[in-house]
Amino acid sequence: MIVLGIETSCDETSAAVLKDGKLLSSIVSSQYFHSKYGGVVPELASRAHQRVIVKVVDEALTSAGIKKEEIDGIAVTYGPGLIGSLLVGVSFAKAMAYGLKIPIVGVNHIEGHVFSTFLMDEHPDFPFIALVVSGGHTMLILVEDFLKLTLLGQTRDDAAGEAFDKVAKLLGLGYPGGPFIDKLAREGDPNFVKFPKPIPSSKSKSSRETDELNKYEFSFSGLKTAVLYYLKKINFQSLGEEEKNKLIRDISASFQRAVVEALVEQTIKAAKDFNVKNITIAGGVAANSELRKTMKEKAENEGLKLYIPDLAYCTDNAAMIAFVGYIKLKSGIKHDFDLAPVPNLKI
Ligand code: KG4
Ligand code: ZN
Repeated sequence: MIVLGIETSCDETSAAVLKDGKLLSSIVSSQYFHSKYGGVVPELASRAHQRVIVKVVDEALTSAGIKKEEIDGIAVTYGPGLIGSLLVGVSFAKAMAYGLKIPIVGVNHIEGHVFSTFLMDEHPDFPFIALVVSGGHTMLILVEDFLKLTLLGQTRDDAAGEAFDKVAKLLGLGYPGGPFIDKLAREGDPNFVKFPKPIPSSKSKSSRETDELNKYEFSFSGLKTAVLYYLKKINFQSLGEEEKNKLIRDISASFQRAVVEALVEQTIKAAKDFNVKNITIAGGVAANSELRKTMKEKAENEGLKLYIPDLAYCTDNAAMIAFVGYIKLKSGIKHDFDLAPVPNLKI
């Protein structure tokens, strides 16, 4: 079965071709121009998707050596994401499926991340715990089968990647901030400032869920505010260049330590509670070198096995969408042509 995957939920236009679940090609066109605005501008993102989508799909087919008449089905991200961006991908996929008279299936972007390790030679057996950490999401998911996912907990406020981006902005670094903080933290002291742990207590007043769910939640907005207050306290802006440069490294390392410790602690806790032996991390933040290293060490200590996709499949890509689409189409799941984007689609 040949499946074409299309992903346009945020600022990456991507298309990929899979044959019987094996990757033939994956093309990702990133909208780097958002960096000058310090974040993704939704209107500009959808216009850019519109401009490049035909070229990206053509490139994916050419590079796979597949003619469009050979495609058996189309998988497209229909949420969660930016409405204008999703509309471009969904509309394009519908038109193409209609023209070729083939089935279309809408895929949840988060499910794509959860199964991105299945594009690699090594992937986890069921059941496994998936930590999805990106600019928009921080979720712990129990995965018992391809079609059996249970959301254990998520962030109550900012996503982990969003916290990286906001703290980087406070430190005067570029966008997206995660890679800058990751690099600078390597030369900093992670014990320089003791920032609060971004895990809400289960007794917290703002608790909206049951205690069981609370056990696996995160909260990053307090951590970001703690960095802001710390910078104000030391009068960061008035300091000299040399002093600032050293502080940026130490604060990056201290902030990153707090984020990584929380992500690792909650993931290992979920694996132990549900007696699961395999863990996977996906999403842009899975590129973080300290997260990869610490999660691997802690997992090994607990007798757990960690699977992380290659960097190109950690960030947004259509290959992971094509894979989930392939599983769904094979199970007889497809959508009608009234398929529409759902910006806040849940697991
Ligand atoms: O999955 P992704 O490409 O896009 C979505 O948000 O869906 O994730 C982007 C996020 C950004 O917040 C970026 O700062 C973060 O991933 N990120 C990192 C690293 N590389 C990307 N965060 C920490 N360390 C990194 N090395
Ligand atoms: Zn994503």
